[in-house]
Amino acid sequence: MEYTNLLLQHQGNIAVLTINRPKALNALNSDTLSELSAALDELGRDSSVKAVIVTGSGEKAFIAGADISQMKDFSPLEGRRFAQLGHATFRKLELLPQPVIAAVNGFALGGGCELSMACDIRIASENAKFGQPEVTLGLTAGFGGTQRLPRLVGTGLASELLFTGDIIDAQEAYRIGLVNKVYPLESLMEEALKLAQRIAGRAPVAVQLTKSAIQRGINLDLDSAQAYEAEVFGLTMSTSDRTEGCTAFVEKRKPNFEGR
Ligand code: CAA
Repeated sequence: MEYTNLLLQHQGNIAVLTINRPKALNALNSDTLSELSAALDELGRDSSVKAVIVTGSGEKAFIAGADISQMKDFSPLEGRRFAQLGHATFRKLELLPQPVIAAVNGFALGGGCELSMACDIRIASENAKFGQPEVTLGLTAGFGGTQRLPRLVGTGLASELLFTGDIIDAQEAYRIGLVNKVYPLESLMEEALKLAQRIAGRAPVAVQLTKSAIQRGINLDLDSAQAYEAEVFGLTMSTSDRTEGCTAFVEKRKPNFEGR
């Protein structure tokens, strides 16, 4: 499918999804969110894709937030619908079967920081900046920031960022655990691809089930989450990849996974 505000490219079994509105620093308007939702449906159906990288077009921004020019005239109902569209789209991203890496290549503000937090893993370029500046606009975070940021960095740090709207650099984002690694901008995509390929080389069904156990389990109490983990662990015993992986270990050779 062709998209206006997105680029969806494939490099072997890795898909690279680029938010492509560089003139507006890749700000998310409702059309872009709808396209993102459609692209995620497309990726979710494509079993040849083993990992996904999300990034922003240009060298300045990952995503500079929800589109302020669109939001400035919203009625309460339009605001609620916009937030619900963001929530549904980011939840779809979070529950995509394949692991998703955010390659944060510049400003990740408001909805941009929120989109990165709906990805499984965040890596960033040295020039990346993170923040939830909604309160500087008379808004609250609306695409999950009040929920995912505290889960990722704790309520104290999240509250400070959400109450002040302060913008932090990549090193500070690394220090507080918001990103896993920081790279020079010119090597960010290469590093994202290397990581994606490492993940894609593991047993695909086991990786998908692991993602599901993390994403489903995090919202459950420990006993229910462990019961779910036991289910997915049991399920791996039905895969030929389990046979191949364990046999390869015993035979001291590299496994050749087929994703079933
Ligand atoms: N929405 C719409 N347009 C945006 C935008 C946004 N979030 N961010 C940047 N742009 C546009 C600018 O209006 C500008 O357009 P024009 O060239 O037509 O004037 C263009 O992108 C380039 O931006 P700047 O000239 O401002 O670039 P800069 O380098 O001087 O500043 C910046 C960069 C600090 C990121 C600044 O653009 C900025 O502060 N952007 C807004 C960040 C923000 O507040 N994001 C949160 C939005 S609210 C939200 O996301 C709510 C939610 O949770 C759902």
